[in-house]
Amino acid sequence: MLDKKALYQISSGLYLVSSHQNEHRAGCIINTFLQVTSNPIQVSITINKENDTTQTILNSRAFHVTALSEQVDMNVIATFGFQSSKEKDKFEGFDSQQDTLDNPYIEAGMNASFTCKVVNTLDVGSHMIIVGEVIDCEVLNHEKSMTYDYYHSVKKGTSPKNAPTYQEEVKEEAKTKWRCKVCGYIYEGDELPEDFICPICGQPASAFEKVES
Ligand SMILES: Cc1cc2nc3c(=O)[nH]c(=O)nc-3n(C[C@H](O)[C@H](O)[C@H](O)COP(=O)(O)O)c2cc1C
Repeated sequence: MLDKKALYQISSGLYLVSSHQNEHRAGCIINTFLQVTSNPIQVSITINKENDTTQTILNSRAFHVTALSEQVDMNVIATFGFQSSKEKDKFEGFDSQQDTLDNPYIEAGMNASFTCKVVNTLDVGSHMIIVGEVIDCEVLNHEKSMTYDYYHSVKKGTSPKNAPTYQEEVKEEAKTKWRCKVCGYIYEGDELPEDFICPICGQPASAFEKVES
């Protein structure tokens, strides 16, 4: 038996991992940040080879991780989880800081922050597992951490194909679908209400397009 729904029972949080190489700033949303050891403090991230952030981390050998809280602006997820740093500087438009290794990071809506130096990498096919030693970390506030489950069940969030936990949507019956052009959220229904607001990134109905089947 290979019941992929079992994978939904694995719990995780949501994180923003970022890095820089000279003037280039990159960052993306991940749900694969884990503590690996406590002495020294080592963490790992699992990140798609096609992500611009991956290449930036591999080149600079450093990265920053912040943990998303339930209060995070969904626009952070829409920007960092569904757009590419190859095409734009995603940090523009957000208040950002720099850690001691000059990696950019956002504090608003985050509850913890980690500055890491790359100490190991493992090629696992579509993704790289990157292990970092934490050289600085701090609690930013005591808001509840955003779990992947909360993102799916309360915020009705989706995951793009680059997320390692992505699963093909199971087609049930043909319903009209409307896709948010900013974050990819799908609304199902014959008509999209005029006052509809995307629950992920807050875009109005005009940002939606009909999905042709
Ligand atoms: C909820 C969520 C979870 C994600 N988890 C991961 C992850 O663990 N690893 C990964 O490589 N991408 C993950 N992604 C996808 C990346 O954030 C996305 O592909 C991003 O646009 C890559 O940006 P970049 O090219 O600027 O690095 C996730 C996205 C979302 C919305």
